[in-house]
Amino acid sequence: MTKWWKNAVIYQIYPKSFFDSDGNGWGDLDGITSKLDYLHSLGVDALWLSPIYESPQVDNGYDISDYRRIDSRFGTMDDMQRLIDGAHERGIRAIMDLVVNHTSDEHDWFRRSRQSRDNPYSDYYLWRDPRPDGGPPNNWGSHFGGSAWEYCADRDQYYLHYYASKQPDLNWENPQVRSEIYDLMRFWMDRGVDGWRMDVIAQISKYIDFPDYPPQEGKEFIIGPMHYYGPRLHEFLREMHQEVLSKYDCVAIGEAPASTPEIARLLTDPERAELDMIFTFEHIELDRVPNSVNRKWDLRPMEVRELKQVLSKWQYILADRGWNALYFENHDRARIVSRWGNDTLYRKQCANAFATVLHGMQGTPFVYQGEEIGMVNAHYELSDYQDIDIKNAYRAYVHDAGTISEERFTKAVWQVGRDNARTPMQWDASKNAGFTSSWPWLKVNPRYVDINVAEALADRDSVFAYYQRLIALRHQEPILIEGSYELLLEDDPVLFVYERAWQGQRWLVIVNLSDREQSAEQVRPLLYDRWRAVIANYPEPLAQSQLRPYEACIVARMDDDEGAHGDSPANR
Ligand code: NOJ
Repeated sequence: MTKWWKNAVIYQIYPKSFFDSDGNGWGDLDGITSKLDYLHSLGVDALWLSPIYESPQVDNGYDISDYRRIDSRFGTMDDMQRLIDGAHERGIRAIMDLVVNHTSDEHDWFRRSRQSRDNPYSDYYLWRDPRPDGGPPNNWGSHFGGSAWEYCADRDQYYLHYYASKQPDLNWENPQVRSEIYDLMRFWMDRGVDGWRMDVIAQISKYIDFPDYPPQEGKEFIIGPMHYYGPRLHEFLREMHQEVLSKYDCVAIGEAPASTPEIARLLTDPERAELDMIFTFEHIELDRVPNSVNRKWDLRPMEVRELKQVLSKWQYILADRGWNALYFENHDRARIVSRWGNDTLYRKQCANAFATVLHGMQGTPFVYQGEEIGMVNAHYELSDYQDIDIKNAYRAYVHDAGTISEERFTKAVWQVGRDNARTPMQWDASKNAGFTSSWPWLKVNPRYVDINVAEALADRDSVFAYYQRLIALRHQEPILIEGSYELLLEDDPVLFVYERAWQGQRWLVIVNLSDREQSAEQVRPLLYDRWRAVIANYPEPLAQSQLRPYEACIVARMDDDEGAHGDSPANR
């Protein structure tokens, strides 16, 4: 039987920025509940909520101090139950974020662990002695800049933190830690939660002898392959599956930085009983200068040819085993129209074009809040950003190391900074975009006046309307779920064209990923004798000799017995 999540489109909510129901400047659970009808009208099957647990909010909730409590700024346990039930009443499932590579340093486990080398919690985290010179145990770097180790005088030891120093990494080698995690998963699933998005799950198993990386010029601390896919990862995941996941009708989506499709096959092969799908980073980091000392802040233009090659590779390799999680945006990734497209003249066409590329593929598509109305990046002063990643990187690369100028760094933040996706959701053209009646925790993007939900709902040609149709197609057309995939026009620098085929049906997905007209000459020979447009973001698709800027469509081959009522020029 097909698993429910194979036909599903999943909508990600960043609760802090979604809708503020009580006027404190933060989005909250009641705010989400009040928008369930909106989400239902979009047609999505499940919601993934970024963390809403009790947290000091150093990394917006990815630093959890109590897994069984709701942060009071988001609401109460009753509010959460109402949200889960309200979603279920509308046939929408609820997925939570499972952040168990690390906790907050304010979690009770860590408070106890740091007290001594010999208490029941001492081994809940990864502690190591200083080097003889007192320095950190090895040269590993943190993803948020600096060393991955923090000294703690009480134990005269360092603890490992792959992210902020206030996010100590849990010690998965300790069976007690694993059993605590499985318990908290059951706690939520027994309340109706339908699955998990697992934060940096690829990092939970560590190379516990912690060898140094070979030195690299210009880098004091290094992030490399030993940060990921430790030796016991698959074993831990299988155990989690057996202990928890197998007991529920749920979905398990792993966040898997540095993954390859081969790794994805291992993680998502149903026979291995680990995860259902993973988020890869390969396609979404194509605009990064590889191995730069300035990490993600050193940018280069994204090449459509490379994007096609990477996305297609994942389609091919996971075709018969495993499953793809399809995404361009999330709370860590900037708005795709601004980052790789056109967010002015062709904003709507461009949003629809990227959506067509993604939703035409095999896998489970994810829509990140605001993506469905074509929200765009914000160009703020550096001091207006709140993200710990931006702040720490500024200190590490601009201020301390001086390896990137403030001007270049600011431009990179405008392009890829995480806060671009975290600006409050734009509901209408009223003050603060209708997000809050008080001061929003992060500035509202000034373009809300034109780009907002109310505007989109009033416009039959809106990005929202296009998403509605794409999502409905996924529910109606098994070819999108089951069909084979073949990339066409592989070498074309801007046209993204592929074919899906299933049980005699054939569909072409045709997208011009550029803001210029492109000759349709190469596309013509690929067209079927008789075809009809399934969806298109311009009127009269393929009727002219040119593909218009960001023109996108899906066309289906018409069977002989189908009436000649399509858009095909052959029918005219
Ligand atoms: C990945 C999350 O998506 C990101 O927002 C967070 O900062 C890190 N993991 C650490 O939890």
